[in-house]
Amino acid sequence: MIKAGFIFDLDGVIVDTAGYHYLAWKKLADELGIPFSEEDNERFKGVSRIRCLEILLELGNIEVSKEQFDLWLQEKNEDYLSYIAKMDETEILPDVVKVLDYLKDRKISMALGSASKNARSILEKVKLIPYFNTMVDGNAVSKAKPDPEVFIKAAESLSIAAKHCVVFEDAQAGIEAANVAGMKSVGIGNSDVLSKADYNFKDFTEIDFDFLDDLLSELDGKS
Ligand code: BG6
Ligand code: MG
Repeated sequence: MIKAGFIFDLDGVIVDTAGYHYLAWKKLADELGIPFSEEDNERFKGVSRIRCLEILLELGNIEVSKEQFDLWLQEKNEDYLSYIAKMDETEILPDVVKVLDYLKDRKISMALGSASKNARSILEKVKLIPYFNTMVDGNAVSKAKPDPEVFIKAAESLSIAAKHCVVFEDAQAGIEAANVAGMKSVGIGNSDVLSKADYNFKDFTEIDFDFLDDLLSELDGKS
């Protein structure tokens, strides 16, 4: 048995939902008259829904009651759900399935580690549930990335020590969380933004089997 746990973020790593999150936040920001760019949206990646709204309201210097806050949270999620309603396998990012198949064939333990409360329903829509031994999502954690809680829970659920785990992430907060957890980190996306990752790839098309084999021996070899 190879001692290695592979933990994948969902949004922006497995599926391209980051754009849908952006559209839904942008719609709310426009309604509230808050300037909100794709650059601002980088801070929203990997971050819980509640924290995203807090950041948005900070950007707009707006203070609100708990009731209004909850209404905006709900509005954003309803818009987001309408954007993802028709998602299917075609929205899995390129070569993700190639990597998942390679690992599955080698019986490597795999977990999902996502801040999203919608993670399970998205994985169902794109039919990737069978690849994962465990799923830790936004419903299972109380602390948002960069807190390592989500990845620590995923490793515990796989019964694999943190030092034998690797995390694939597209968010700065997620890379930080993986590093704090004592796991290897693989940044997917812009390497300038994800400069704290141990390894960087633009997307999964750049990940080859030699890299995965080397990573597996490195993780397995840690005593
Ligand atoms: C993360 C996204 O995966 O999930 C964040 O990167 C998002 O942008 C967070 O805010 C929470 O998602 P949801 O689906 O619970 O609103
Ligand atoms: Mg992400």
